[in-house]
Amino acid sequence: MSHPDALIWDDRYSNDMRWRNLRSPRNLVISYQHLIPRSGLVLDAACGSTPTGLHLARQGWQVIALDVSNAALRIAQSEVQKEALPISFALMDLMNPWLPSNRFNVILNFYFLSRPLLATYRKSMKHGGILFFETFVRDESFSHEADDNPHHYLEPHELKSHFKDWNIIHYEETQRASRSTERRNRSRRIARLVARKLK
Ligand SMILES: C[S@@+](CC[C@H](N)C(=O)[O-])C[C@H]1O[C@@H](n2cnc3c(N)ncnc32)[C@H](O)[C@@H]1O
Repeated sequence: MSHPDALIWDDRYSNDMRWRNLRSPRNLVISYQHLIPRSGLVLDAACGSTPTGLHLARQGWQVIALDVSNAALRIAQSEVQKEALPISFALMDLMNPWLPSNRFNVILNFYFLSRPLLATYRKSMKHGGILFFETFVRDESFSHEADDNPHHYLEPHELKSHFKDWNIIHYEETQRASRSTERRNRSRRIARLVARKLK
């Protein structure tokens, strides 16, 4: 039987053009790409169609892309086949994650929140490795939809506190324009972090 998150996301990636179309790589990674070690392994967690993973793989980085949605991975795989890029995919529920220790040089986490995964990242990142993390923060002024899950939102300042013993290269909590058509002209509160695991 399919994971409940897979049912929701497979439907979006199969039927909604906003998700079917490949997006641009995330600006946070573009801005700090010069900090990424030239060799090593990149993890794109809850990668979706992995626009940022594809961007890094095109430039020679080896990427492992994980997601619960098979439909998302299929979109990404079709790009990889066209260009023979160095990306491996696995279908995985990251709410109950297992990842190897001391394995990744870069971890990408965009618009997905699994609190157990935060502790896993701390172990799975190699010393000197860089974490890019961006997702929504709880915002009392925003009218959440009835089906919004409060567990999908960071608390204010929470993200920074999980990595306070790492070298914080960039941290901000800011407003971002909503991409959703129903919520157009509304802004959402997000947190953005770039942090290096210390030696
Ligand atoms: C908002 S999208 C973000 C996709 C991608 N990180 C990006 O930057 O475009 C959220 C992603 O989380 C994935 N996801 C949702 N629940 C998941 C779970 N339990 N385990 C792994 N991935 C999950 C979805 O399939 C979807 O691809």
